[in-house]
Amino acid sequence: MSKSYLTSISSATTNFPKKLLIWNYWDHEHVVGTHFEHYKKVEILFEDKNTCISERWAKLPYIPFYFKMKDELKLTNENQMDVLHSAFFNIIKCKQKFIFEENKNSCKVTRYDYLEIPNFLKFLQPLFDRLMKKWFVDVWNEDMPMRERRYKVWKLGFKDFKGIDYINNPDLKKKEISDRKYQVILPLPKANQNQINGSKKVFKRIIKKSKHIGYGLPDL
Ligand SMILES: [Fe+2]
Repeated sequence: MSKSYLTSISSATTNFPKKLLIWNYWDHEHVVGTHFEHYKKVEILFEDKNTCISERWAKLPYIPFYFKMKDELKLTNENQMDVLHSAFFNIIKCKQKFIFEENKNSCKVTRYDYLEIPNFLKFLQPLFDRLMKKWFVDVWNEDMPMRERRYKVWKLGFKDFKGIDYINNPDLKKKEISDRKYQVILPLPKANQNQINGSKKVFKRIIKKSKHIGYGLPDL
């Protein structure tokens, strides 16, 4: 049967540095927290400095059950990330390309979606386009509080698993370093890894009530 693709393009611009956005896309722990309505479990099968292969138990809009999806992320170059999603024994395959265009104080993210389908399903193109654009906006909005919080503490000198100097040591004065260049090194260190069978990296949904766990704390 000949194959074709449903396609969609979505984009948004933000004031965050490109590397902070990459950190957000490569942070697997928040998937079962911030996006708890769509995901209940994530397991990382392999990861290195520019690749991550994981399995996610997901529930997408209009599909009333969870299914296992395999996701392969690749940081193709410093401005591009490619993702291959597959499910139902590879019957469903969706490729996504993310392009990051960073300027002085902003970064534009454009996502290109390609869902492989048999030719006779091409009539679904308008529906697919609407769904993917909605998905992009919904997830973008869900991610904003954690990006904002991360950037705020970064400018206060935050280091993973170490915290902020002036919070750890009351003798130090609060100091904001607004031009601290954001850095990201993959794979990201994990804070909340549920160890199963030794070295497996498994993250499970713990709370199903709030997507703002950890947010809404007093100003630092
Ligand atoms: Fe996210």
